[in-house]
Amino acid sequence: MKILLTGKDGQVGFALNKKLASLGEVIATNRDMLDLSNPQAIRIFIDQTKPDIIINPAAYTKVDQAESEPELASQINSVAPQVLAEKASELHIPIIHFSTDYVFNGLKHEPYLETDKVNPQSVYGQTKWQGEEVVRNHKKHIILRTSWVFSSHGQNFLKTIVRLIQEKTSLNVVSDQIGTPTSSEALADVTYKIVETIFNDSNFKDFGTYHMTLDNETNWYRYACFITDEAKRLGLQTLMTSKDIKPISSDAYPALAKRPMNSRLDTTKIKKTFMLELPHWEAEVKRILKALIH
Ligand SMILES: NC(=O)c1ccc[n+]([C@@H]2O[C@H](COP(=O)([O-])OP(=O)(O)OC[C@H]3O[C@@H](n4cnc5c(N)ncnc54)[C@H](OP(=O)(O)O)[C@@H]3O)[C@@H](O)[C@H]2O)c1
Repeated sequence: MKILLTGKDGQVGFALNKKLASLGEVIATNRDMLDLSNPQAIRIFIDQTKPDIIINPAAYTKVDQAESEPELASQINSVAPQVLAEKASELHIPIIHFSTDYVFNGLKHEPYLETDKVNPQSVYGQTKWQGEEVVRNHKKHIILRTSWVFSSHGQNFLKTIVRLIQEKTSLNVVSDQIGTPTSSEALADVTYKIVETIFNDSNFKDFGTYHMTLDNETNWYRYACFITDEAKRLGLQTLMTSKDIKPISSDAYPALAKRPMNSRLDTTKIKKTFMLELPHWEAEVKRILKALIH
């Protein structure tokens, strides 16, 4: 099997590149090999490589910067997925595309279902939603919406907290936004299972949109405290403890792009369809911290 993977140097792309290698040949691309802002380059690359499946974790992910670069964000998050999906249709191959909780406005009081109405509040969320819609035009699609991604590779909240507790003596962290941290490795494991299922079952019909996060929930403040306590337990020398972290409201931490207050995604559908058990986010955070600190 030939797998075309985008964004191989991103958090999720990096984990996918490692995990999918045992399924076949992974044509793992980064911006230098395949610039997703160039639709014609995407078409030529796919014509030349003739993949059996396209997996697209690449995205314009600078959420605040997107507010002042809407065209570029749209080019990567909406136009590129459209070209990838069109080529997938032409070749009759599946596409797996990654999306986000930012397609919702975050005002629901329960975890979001795949069928809930979207209402993105930022340029990033809007462009990711448009990307989903164009991918949905292709029958053989899987869209994986996830949230709060962390990994030992790349930039994320977990690594920022680990750095800050070594540099500062106190921190303010938002406590009124709830969601579920999700490891890039868990996303790669689930993607592996999906690819395997699609190719082993010639009658596979469960294409569509799925929510994929780890189990349970938290808020950014409690998440930061957990990281701090666990990092200290693992022997990291820090200038502060979790008692030096102060919970603040989103209003006290203004950002250019609006974040959803509720980022929780209901994962019942993906668990049932692919017979998955998803780890608790705390277990995955512990695992990644151990790898980072030891
Ligand atoms: N991170 C999160 O918390 C989060 C939450 C919910 C959903 N998601 C979604 O999950 C997916 C994976 O996110 P991630 O955390 O792995 O993101 P990431 O670490 O920011 O990686 C994104 C990758 O896309 C690449 N990319 C950007 N512009 C490109 C271009 N013009 N041509 C080719 N590649 C380009 C980036 O390359 P460069 O390094 O060269 O820029 C980077 O390697 C995305 O679809 C994202 O929207 C992420």
